[in-house]
Amino acid sequence: MKITVSVIKADVGSVGGHNRPSEKLLQSLKDHLKEHGQRLLKDYKITSTGDDGCLLMSHTKGVDHPDIHRLAWQAFTEATKVAKEQGLYGAGQDLLKDAFSGNVRGMGPGSCEMEFEERPSEPLVLFACDKTDPGAFNYPMFRGFADPFHNAGLLLAPDMAVGFEYTIMDVNYTEGDRVIVLNVPENYYDMAVLLRDPEHYVVESVKARSTGDVAAVVSTSRLHNIAGKYTGKDDPVALVRTQKQFPSTGEILSPYATAHFVVGDNRGSHIVPLMPCKQGAIISFFDGPAIVTALGLCIHNGIFTEGVDLFDQPFWDHIRNKAAEKTMHIRDQGFFGAAMATMEELEYTGVVERIKALDKKFKIRK
Ligand code: F6R
Ligand code: MG
Ligand code: MG
Repeated sequence: MKITVSVIKADVGSVGGHNRPSEKLLQSLKDHLKEHGQRLLKDYKITSTGDDGCLLMSHTKGVDHPDIHRLAWQAFTEATKVAKEQGLYGAGQDLLKDAFSGNVRGMGPGSCEMEFEERPSEPLVLFACDKTDPGAFNYPMFRGFADPFHNAGLLLAPDMAVGFEYTIMDVNYTEGDRVIVLNVPENYYDMAVLLRDPEHYVVESVKARSTGDVAAVVSTSRLHNIAGKYTGKDDPVALVRTQKQFPSTGEILSPYATAHFVVGDNRGSHIVPLMPCKQGAIISFFDGPAIVTALGLCIHNGIFTEGVDLFDQPFWDHIRNKAAEKTMHIRDQGFFGAAMATMEELEYTGVVERIKALDKKFKIRK
């Protein structure tokens, strides 16, 4: 049976600053899917990562189906009402348009979807980040699929030796979807030069070349490209199929042990390590650090098993400490040089406006 898994997430309000949706808000998302998703969905789960609520849904409608996107849009619209009633911070923050127009892409919420023929056992990982942008997934998607230091299957499993096909999006292009398809291992260095610039080129999806099966999808929306101004970071989600013709779950998790530096954190304008956290983790120090959660599941006939919290294990305590140490090292230098994002990525206009004003006072010495 062909199944579609859709992940749609948004920040529509949170408690105590940009920290976590309220219980009531999450309940409202659940109630909405329960009541209005009955005909449409096979199954669903609601998760939260930092201040974002996330809908994980299974159905047979295919990707980009307006009924599924409308269901999600309305769930977040209803949840916004709850957020306003409760006086939550940033109520409706990610709903950038007033009227739904068929697809949540370009309207604020982040989304990624994949359609596939279910294998007899179909393990999946749902990754969700807060306080960073979709480029945060470039590094783990590059290394988890294409680098034998992490994906030992590239050397040990014959199916995987033929490599993977990546679709990469130029997220600065706003007229439409500007994408390039590259294969590893042949185009490994071409891919490296694009993915090293994660605010411009973003992994959108990965396929197994052995079978042509979709392996991973990532939400690629850039809110500041949609709204043309600061509206918060995009806090991306990704879905990865694992095992057999794909990397194992552990191989896909392996690159997160780097706690690599990403753009985001406080005011979306700093460089911080990405800390792998437990489900429902909140945001704290300096509105950060940027966090990622990972929920492992199996799906069978469209029904999800319970999830396993993949970063809730003693190994990751060590990585969380490492991420905290890396955070302190870069925070020590505050806003100087590499600690603050580039001018294009600054999410607030203060620095830009100040420089404009100062620019007029510069004089060329005779
Ligand atoms: C970053 C983020 C926060 C806010 C900060 C100020 O993505 O959400 O760091 O930028 O808390 O928030 P406002 O401007 O809403 O007062
Ligand atoms: Mg927020
Ligand atoms: Mg968020």
